[in-house]
Parts: sequence; C-alpha cells; structure tokens
Amino acid sequence: MIIGGVEIKGAALAPMAGYTDAGFRAVCSLCGAGAVYTEMISAKGLIYDSEKTKDLLFFTPYEKVSCAQIFGNDPYFIQAACEHKIMDKFALIDINMGCPVPKIVKNGEGSALMNDPLLAQQVVKAAVKSGRRITVKCRTGFSSSEHCADFVKMMQDAGALAVTVHGRTREQFYSGKADLQPIKKAVENVSIPVIANGDIKDKKSAEEALAYTGAAGVAVGRGALGNPFVFAQIAGGTPPMTVSEAIKMHMDILLEIYPERKVVNDMKKHIAFYTKGKKGGKELKLKAFCAQSVNEIKEIAKSL
Ligand SMILES: Cc1cc2nc3c(=O)[nH]c(=O)nc-3n(C[C@H](O)[C@H](O)[C@H](O)COP(=O)(O)O)c2cc1C
Repeated sequence: MIIGGVEIKGAALAPMAGYTDAGFRAVCSLCGAGAVYTEMISAKGLIYDSEKTKDLLFFTPYEKVSCAQIFGNDPYFIQAACEHKIMDKFALIDINMGCPVPKIVKNGEGSALMNDPLLAQQVVKAAVKSGRRITVKCRTGFSSSEHCADFVKMMQDAGALAVTVHGRTREQFYSGKADLQPIKKAVENVSIPVIANGDIKDKKSAEEALAYTGAAGVAVGRGALGNPFVFAQIAGGTPPMTVSEAIKMHMDILLEIYPERKVVNDMKKHIAFYTKGKKGGKELKLKAFCAQSVNEIKEIAKSL
C-alpha cells in the first residue's frame, strides 16, 4: 500500500493509548509491522509545549513508517500541531476521529467528529495546510454505521490520503464483533487507501478482512498486545526475537526517555498480556506486579 508516496509493507500497529510507546513500536516494527502509530496526542498539549506530550513522540530508527496520531477539534490547533517542528520526523500524521472515551467525546473530539462531518472536514483541511501527509482514523459511525462510506469520502475530499476504519460504532465501544461491511462500502466509495481494523489477530483474520473489504491494508491493535509476533505471522515470516528479547528491547528503549520506576510500571501492563494463557502465567504476572526494577522484569521475562 502506498500513502502519499510512502510505501507500507505489512500490517500496521494501530494506535493504542498507554501501549504503543516507542519501545513497543520498535519491537512490532522489527517483527514486521509496516507502519506504527503513536498513541493519540493532544494537539493543544503539543502547542502548549507539554514535555509529557513530546515524550510520547519519541521514536527510534527501528520504525519503518512512523505515524503520529493527534486529536482535537479546533482547526487552528490541529494545523499548528501539524506544523510543529517535532512532526518533521513523522512520515504521516493521523487524526483521531474514533476515540469513544466520554471525556474526549464531551469536548467534541475523537469519535464526536463523526457527528459533525463538516467540522471534521475543516479539521482535515487545516491539517493538510501544514503541508504534511494527513490521514484519518475513524469508526464506522457514532451510533450507526449508515454514513460510514459518506464520511470516509468526505475525509478524502478534505485531503486525507488514507482512512483507517475500526469496524465498530462509538456506541459499541469495543463490544461485539467488528463489522466489516461498512468498511467494504467505504472502500468502494473512495480512491484513497482504506485500512481495515477491528479483531484482526492472526494471518487468517487479516486475510479474511482484506479479501472481504478490498481494503488496501489492515491495522492490528489488541491482537499485538503480548504478541508483537503477529506481524511476522501475517507477513508469513518467523519472529526475529523471543518474548524475553522483545521485553528487554522494549524496556531499553523506554529507559532512554523515562526513569526506571515509570518503565517498570509501564511494562507491568504489557507483562499482563505476555503472561495471559501461558503455563505459570498467573504467578509470573503477580511477580511482575511486585517488581521494582528493570532487572527483576528481565528475570521474569526469561521464563516467558
Ligand atoms: C487500550 C486501547 C487504547 C487505544 N487507544 C487508541 C488511540 O489512542 N487512538 C486510536 O485511534 N485508537 C485507539 N484505540 C483503538 C485501536 O486503535 C483499534 O481501533 C481498536 O482497538 C480495534 O482494533 P483491534 O480489535 O485490533 O484492537 C485503542 C484501543 C485500545 C484497546
């Protein structure tokens, strides 16, 4: 798939707040992710120079195609965020129009933009004025998927170079099965690449989503948690590292940005996924939750 001249080979790692940090993105990239997304970053937060926001935009050369995801509904701040120097290093800037969290929706941001497609277009047009490559990630709709194809077309008309569609409405949050039909209709309605997303967790589900929707690519979210190797599987290759090596690399990268205490705490969430369903996993997870140092986590990771 080619987005604005940028070639993406392999499934993308979908943006996930609290999870798609620079360490995890590096691991997924080495495992075969063709593009990786930061977690969503507030456009206003970036303009007001928040250090925390900038830490979220740290990345390593392991990433093949690095994408920054921003959120906001004010065209002025969106354009300013896209023009920010820190964005020079990103291949694509994605605008979040899918976040279902009440705090975000109440502000008219994230998935709320699907209820105001004209404002969503203004947001994209403002972003495009920055001269960067702009993409959008949305859901199939806010309360119904009826207008998904029209919405994606409106994003194309506003200048988005690609749209990732999560096959659920905002009201569904993460419940039920992802609905690929509205994604298929969106694909038929536009000429830009559409990326299908939702419940893709292995080669079979990736191939089925691609075949059914005709999408240009797929993005994997939760299926990559505790299993960054899913990208190697989808690409038909072998994982280039073990779980223990993945966890070590992940932490080593985070240590370049954060103090050890934060790295250990952040890793606990990932360890919970790595231990899921494994023999002795519960005990290892408990051990990890009591860990105080990176070395303790590395020791635990050796048993995974
Ligand atoms: C913990 C978590 C955090 C997420 N954060 C974001 C985010 O920051 N931006 C975004 O566009 N989507 C976010 N999502 C949605 C995912 O990118 C994806 O669309 C959704 O999980 C469906 O795909 P999946 O079934 O492969 O997980 C998040 C999902 C989860 C589970």
